Order: sequence, then C-alpha cells, then structure tokens
Amino acid sequence: MAKEISSVTDPRAMITEGCRLPVKMYNCDEWPLAEILNIKRDTEDGIASFYVHYVAYNKRLDEWVADARLDYDKMQMPSAVKAREKGADAKSLNGSRPPSPEMKPATPRPPAPPRIEKVPIVEKIKTEIKVESQDSQESNQPPTPRQTGSMSTHHPDDVVTRMKNITMIELGKYRLKPWYFSPYPQEMTNIPVVYLCEFCLKYVKSSKCLERHLVKCPLKHPPGNEIYRKQSISFFEVDGRKNKIYSQNLCLLAKLFLDHKTLYYDTDPFLFYVMTECDDRGFHVVGYFSKEKESTEDYNVACILTLPPFQRKGFGRLLIEFSYELSKFEGKTGSPEKPLSDLGLLSYRSYWSHTILEILVDMKPSENGERPQITINEISELTSIKKEDVISTLQYLNLINYYKGQYVIVLTKEVLESHMRAMQKRKLRIDPKCLHWTAKDWSKRGKW
Ligand code: ACO
Ligand code: ZN
Repeated sequence: MAKEISSVTDPRAMITEGCRLPVKMYNCDEWPLAEILNIKRDTEDGIASFYVHYVAYNKRLDEWVADARLDYDKMQMPSAVKAREKGADAKSLNGSRPPSPEMKPATPRPPAPPRIEKVPIVEKIKTEIKVESQDSQESNQPPTPRQTGSMSTHHPDDVVTRMKNITMIELGKYRLKPWYFSPYPQEMTNIPVVYLCEFCLKYVKSSKCLERHLVKCPLKHPPGNEIYRKQSISFFEVDGRKNKIYSQNLCLLAKLFLDHKTLYYDTDPFLFYVMTECDDRGFHVVGYFSKEKESTEDYNVACILTLPPFQRKGFGRLLIEFSYELSKFEGKTGSPEKPLSDLGLLSYRSYWSHTILEILVDMKPSENGERPQITINEISELTSIKKEDVISTLQYLNLINYYKGQYVIVLTKEVLESHMRAMQKRKLRIDPKCLHWTAKDWSKRGKW
C-alpha cells in the first residue's frame, strides 16, 4: 500500500535520484548503503519502486526494490553525498578512485575484497556503442543506427546504460538473468524474455518466433573454422569481418555480463574464439574470448566470458589457457586488455600463479647440485605470459626475496601445497596437439 506523505520534510517525499540510504539486499539480512538511480511511480496508486546500486558492490547486484526495503532514517540527499565525496577526494593522497572492492557473492552478502595491488588497473574508458541492426543486415539494407539511447555513444555513467535493460534471456536450455546493460534494440527491452537462437545468436521477441527461426536456421555450431577439438570441447575461430552479424550478436550477448570496458561493435578488427560443448543436438556455446587481429600493445585477449551457467567450473581457465596457446603458436608473449573486471583479475591471477609455479616446481637442480636458475624472460618465453605479468604474479605470491646481494625465488611449503591441491582439482586442460591452426600475419594483409 502507498505510504501517506505527511509533510515536505518527510524523507519519502524528498527522495530523488542520487540519494543514498541503507537498502535491504535481496535474499539476505544485510542493509548496505545504496544509491537511488531511478524511481518508477505507478500512475494509478502512486506506489514507487526504486532502482538501486549498492555503493560498495559490483553493478551486477543492482536491482529494483520496493519502498519497504529502504531505510529512510539514514537517507543522505545528493548534495550531502557530493559534499562528502569532495571531502574524501581532498583527503585522498593522489585523488584517484579506490580499486573496486566488489565480487559477486554466491549469496548476496559482503564479499571479501579481491587483492588487486600491484597489477595496473586502468580507469574505465569510454563506452562506444555502435551496432548495426540485426534485421537491417539480414535484408541487405544499409545499416540504420538507432536514433535513441543505446546505439549512440554514451558516457559510461549515462543514466540509460547504468541500468539493466533486459529482464531475462533464453539461450538453449538456459534462462539467464543479465548482470548489466546491453544495447539490444528498444523493442527487446520491455518484454519478460528475449529468446536467442543458441547457434547463430539471433534474438527474437517470443518463443513462437524462435520456433519459426529454428526451423530454417542452418547452424548447429558457431560459424567459422573449428580449430580445436578434444572430447566434447571445441573452439571455433570466427572472423569479425566475415561473420559480422554473428559477431555482433555475440557482443550483444556478452555485454549482458561484461561491464567494465569498451565493447567494440565494429567487429572487423577482431577474431572471436568461441568455446563449445558438443552433444547430439549440436555445439553449445560455453564462453568465448575476442582478440584483435593486430594489437600494438601485445594484447592476446580483448574480452573474455564464460556464460553464467558454466562459471566456476574451470572453463574460464581453459579459455585463458587457450589464449596463451595461440600466443605460443605465434611465438609471442601476450596479456589481457586492461582494465580487468574483478572476476577477470581473479581468474588471470589464478592462471598466472599456477602456470608459473608449474614451471618452478618442475625445475631440477643442476648436476653439480647448485640451485636451479631461471630468468623472468625465460619464464615469459616458456609460458607466453608477458614479463610484467610474470613479475606482478611473483610479487603477489610473495616469492621474491633479496638474499646475499641477489634476488632469489623462494617456494614455501604453503605455496607448494596449495599449488599441488589446485593442480589435483584441475581436470580440464588444453591439449596443444588438438589445436589445428596457423597464425596469420594480419599486418601483411591489405585488409582484415
Ligand atoms: N569468486 C571467487 N573466485 C572466482 C570467481 C568468483 N565468483 N569466479 C572465478 N573465480 C576464480 C576461481 O576460483 C578460479 O581460481 P582457482 O582455479 O584458483 O580456484 C579462477 O577464478 C578461474 O575460475 P574458472 O571456473 O576457470 O572461471 P570461470 O569459468 O568462472 O570464468 C570469468 C571466469 C571468465 C572471468 C567469468 O567469471 C566471467 O565470464 N565473468 C563475467 C565477464 C568478465 O568479467 N570477464 C573478464 C573481463 S576482463 C577481460 O575481458 C580481459
Ligand atoms: Zn539461428
């Protein structure tokens, strides 16, 4: 029922976008501080719902809440929030933003902040959202960019792109709740479920439309070349220029779960490595990473994603391992494009740590019994992990010691034991023998 508004000083009457107050989080008893991003009032009964962002948490936990979940007694007006932030800025030594402390908890409660010191995390960069409409491409019409909202360039904190716009998607046998905004066309945003063809990733408005599409859709796997297969896992290399609609649809799908950096909807300069799991119905997408055909900064991954139903099962690691196998084949070292998300950083840290430790553990003492020796460059060449990432990982693991005038790596019992335990758990690995691929030198080609 709508609460009565008694006077203008009643916080209920004063609440606006930008106010901050404690809000009860979904499914738990925590009341973290949240910012009001949007207010929707039912025109008939005046009942309001509020779109909130929990200040210390990742945006994927943002949600619509009812009035009863707001603690108005502790409400700060936007002016007070600004004044407080100004004060905090002045106090901070370098004025830079603190690293994001958020992670997605299994149950929404305050998570332990990931340790992210020493790895360069770059500030958010401009979100460029430019995508051709799926239908206009299909009918060979010239692309007609949408005139409103999400098709144009947005500032990352734009009101439109700050809010999730898709309620649910259906992909194969899964229904997925998006984490972030994605620039699907307007007509997809006000419906309960967007239906995707799990093979070509075309999006439609109803299950009936999807049924009709499935009858004529020729695909049972991503387009492009299957360059890896071991047991049920395959990788397909998709060229962003040759398979533009698929690549754009993949970007739109990925954007639902990726928030922290630019997604390029001009897909021409990218290759997409799509990982699938095969059964008797086809090759089902599990995750992917994109890679620039030419990177001046030695990036070997632009964006990486494991779809939520497959997360925390080792697939992210497998994608990362695959990206480094490609770099090995190219005879290069590489690094993921920055900034990394919280989950991206955790996954890369874990991959780098285990890969470097594997090399150190396997080193044998020399014949005259001297301690084995290895340089940072050698570790980098053996693994294709960029030198800076090798150094930051050794520092993160606290393995470098200064001893008798030189740097030595000391492997402690605890580090070794936790590494061995992790190795035993790890079932999925890339088998380089199953990769059938030759690196192209894109700089020598006239056109991507
Ligand atoms: N909480 C704590 N640890 C986690 C979590 C989590 N939610 N997710 C992954 N990890 C850790 C795992 O414990 C594991 O470490 P371990 O092997 O030492 O135990 C490591 O990260 C990798 O786990 P996987 O199961 O292999 O990874 P997953 O399949 O879940 O994929 C990924 C990781 C790709 C980052 C996934 O979380 C994702 O798609 N997130 C959304 C998109 C995103 O943030 N992508 C990265 C952006 S950065 C970039 O694009 C360059
Ligand atoms: Zn299809």
